[in-house]
Amino acid sequence: MPLYAFFHGKLVLLSEAKIGVMTHSLHYGTAVFEGIRGNWNSEQRQLYLFRLKEHYHRMHEGCQVLKIDLPYNIDELCQITVELVEKCGFQEDSYIRPLAYKSTEAVGVRLHDLECDFLVFAFPWGPYLDMDKAKCCVSSWRCPQEVPRAKLAGLYINNALAKTEATENGFDEAIMLTSEGYVAEGSGENIFLVIDGKLITPASYNDILMGITRDTVIKLAENELGIETMERPVYRNELYTADECFLTGTAANITPVAEIDRRKIGTGEIGEITRKLQEIYSDVIRGNKPKYRDWCTPVYKKSGI
Ligand SMILES: Cc1ncc(COP(=O)(O)O)c(C=O)c1O
Repeated sequence: MPLYAFFHGKLVLLSEAKIGVMTHSLHYGTAVFEGIRGNWNSEQRQLYLFRLKEHYHRMHEGCQVLKIDLPYNIDELCQITVELVEKCGFQEDSYIRPLAYKSTEAVGVRLHDLECDFLVFAFPWGPYLDMDKAKCCVSSWRCPQEVPRAKLAGLYINNALAKTEATENGFDEAIMLTSEGYVAEGSGENIFLVIDGKLITPASYNDILMGITRDTVIKLAENELGIETMERPVYRNELYTADECFLTGTAANITPVAEIDRRKIGTGEIGEITRKLQEIYSDVIRGNKPKYRDWCTPVYKKSGI
């Protein structure tokens, strides 16, 4: 099945969407990206894009930081994305990668006097952390301090260093600390702990990306399970003694953490609250809970393609 991209203002084959070697963003990380999920509902034969508007709202904020003038508003970006995914015709879980970038072919570190462009492509993709529970380590790489917390391409270099260090040392994922030594987040996920029946997660001022899955989990825990979330600085030590721990992200969904720095978390199995949240989340993102249908954008005009 051919894959497509929206590139230079139109839908083309993904294999034909190419940029020049001098493109500014390739050299200096001057781009903003997003990751959006398409979740396949096999009974309805429908693909739902989860919290599409919120992803493009965050992208617009990142563009504001990088002085990228997007030629499309949020509604137009949503429309382009639905058309792209419809053309791809996926009947399985998939992933959508929009990118707003400095497209001028020029050398020189700056943000001004550069053209901008927007592209988006999509491909079938199952779970990112492809295991039922993850083994994590605390990374020796810290989250950069005093940088804008947006999905800016250039900001991801420490995350890449952390992820590869973790993988090469036999772990599935890295947990990064802030420069003050508080827990921040995974290389591509936010982190939650369960302590005494409550959810705890690092606060917005702890150098985290304000994840859309994080926000979803906080709302579902409150509405569906009556569980409150405390957003506060988290000590490294609390990672080891928590009753349960899980990671959240568009790519990783809700991934339970079994082990951190070779210490079992709780029983080392998937915790009760984590499992309940996973079940609710999986229903919500597939459009199975009418209460949360506003978060789900159907791709196919008639379900049952
Ligand atoms: C560093 C980082 N933290 C957290 C997240 C989770 O964010 P979201 O739930 O919006 O995907 C991501 C993924 O986008 C990420 O890259």
